[in-house]
Amino acid sequence: MKILVLNGPNLNLLGTREPELYGANTLDDVHALCTQTSRALGFEADCFQSNHEGELIDKIHAYGKMHKEGLALGAVFNPGALTHTSVALHDAIKGCGLPVIEVHISNVHARESFRHHSFISPVARGTVIGLGIHGYELAIRGLVAVSQ
Ligand code: DQA
Repeated sequence: MKILVLNGPNLNLLGTREPELYGANTLDDVHALCTQTSRALGFEADCFQSNHEGELIDKIHAYGKMHKEGLALGAVFNPGALTHTSVALHDAIKGCGLPVIEVHISNVHARESFRHHSFISPVARGTVIGLGIHGYELAIRGLVAVSQ
C-alpha cells in the first residue's frame, strides 16, 4: 500500500533556497524521512516533485484511481506557491477523492498576506503548517491515523 509524497514548484531547491525560512535540509532528506516513516508504519512512500502544475494534477489523478482500487492510502502534499493560486489543483483533489494532508514547511500565516489563503485547505483532509520538514513525518502519521 502506497503513500504519495508530492512536492510542487521550487521545493527541489530545498537546502539552498532561503534557508532561514526553509532550513538546511534538502529534498532528498525529505524523501529519506518520508520513506523511513512510511516503512515504519507498513507503507511504501512514492516521492515525486515537479515544477509543473499539470504533472502534479496527473499524479493526483493516478493516485485517486489507486486509492479507489485499494492500492494507495492517500497523499502528503506541499504544493509550494501553487497553494495560493491553483483552482486546478483544488479541483483535481476534489474530483478524484484522494485523501490529502497539506504540508507547509514555513508558517505561511506569519508571512506575506498573499500566502494566507490556500486553495488546497478546503479539499485537504488536514493540514500541517510551520513545523519545518518534521511536518512531512507528522502528515504521514496523521494520514495513517485518520485512515484507520
Ligand atoms: C511553502 C510556502 C509557500 O508559500 C511557498 O510558495 C513555498 C513553500 C512552504 O512549504 O512553506 O514554495 O509551501
